[in-house]
Amino acid sequence: MTSFDHHRRPLVIGIGGTTRAASSTERALGFALRGAEAAGANTRLFGGTFLHSLPHYAPENPQRTDEQLELIEAVRRADALIIATPGYHGGVSGLVKNALDTLEELRADERPYLDGRAVGCIVTAYGWQAAGSVLTSLRSIVHALRGWPTPFGAGINTLETRFDTVDTCSDAKVVEQLSTVGQQAAQFALAFNAHRAPAAAPLGNALKETQPARLLHAV
Ligand SMILES: Cc1cc2nc3c(=O)[nH]c(=O)nc-3n(C[C@H](O)[C@H](O)[C@H](O)COP(=O)(O)O)c2cc1C
Repeated sequence: MTSFDHHRRPLVIGIGGTTRAASSTERALGFALRGAEAAGANTRLFGGTFLHSLPHYAPENPQRTDEQLELIEAVRRADALIIATPGYHGGVSGLVKNALDTLEELRADERPYLDGRAVGCIVTAYGWQAAGSVLTSLRSIVHALRGWPTPFGAGINTLETRFDTVDTCSDAKVVEQLSTVGQQAAQFALAFNAHRAPAAAPLGNALKETQPARLLHAV
């Protein structure tokens, strides 16, 4: 999908959470998605239960499950994403990384991987050290997938901040930070797609003439 209907709301896909029913990571992601909705987006959440249903991504196996195809198709249609992972042993969790590995199936798309999409990044961890280092690591993964990490990313120390229910958080500042991540993802989608509007044709033509510059996105 390359054309954008300027009368529809952008679609922001959330990917994240853990296998725990009361996952603070998934709840944090919910706050960010609500921020995206407030900024004018439609949203869809792929939480921990869904991510747990994905088989380990095996590139040499051409068979894909219904769940894998559902994720791949949703990301293909997405205008922006928000990814939320816990810090596990100093890195992105296997559950979330497996979902991101599955996006290898988008490599041959006209918009490969996360090309042209803003990606909000959220990390929860039991301490500030992993919250910061895993956020950097998640952003590097987004760069490798040709996505555009939003300027603001949220690192949450779950020793200090509690998410007792799906829509409660013990720290109003964290709610504001998560909402900012969602807003920035939605605002980028709106701005980026407006740039691709027919009215922007002269610039579009100019870009066509410098097509090889696209290679600069390769990592
Ligand atoms: C296997 C495992 C590894 C973890 N490794 C780290 C770590 O290296 N650093 C850290 O600060 N917290 C670590 N944690 C704590 C989690 O990042 C933290 O509890 C997170 O908020 C869990 O998210 P959840 O509530 O969505 O399940 C680990 C937890 C587990 C289960």
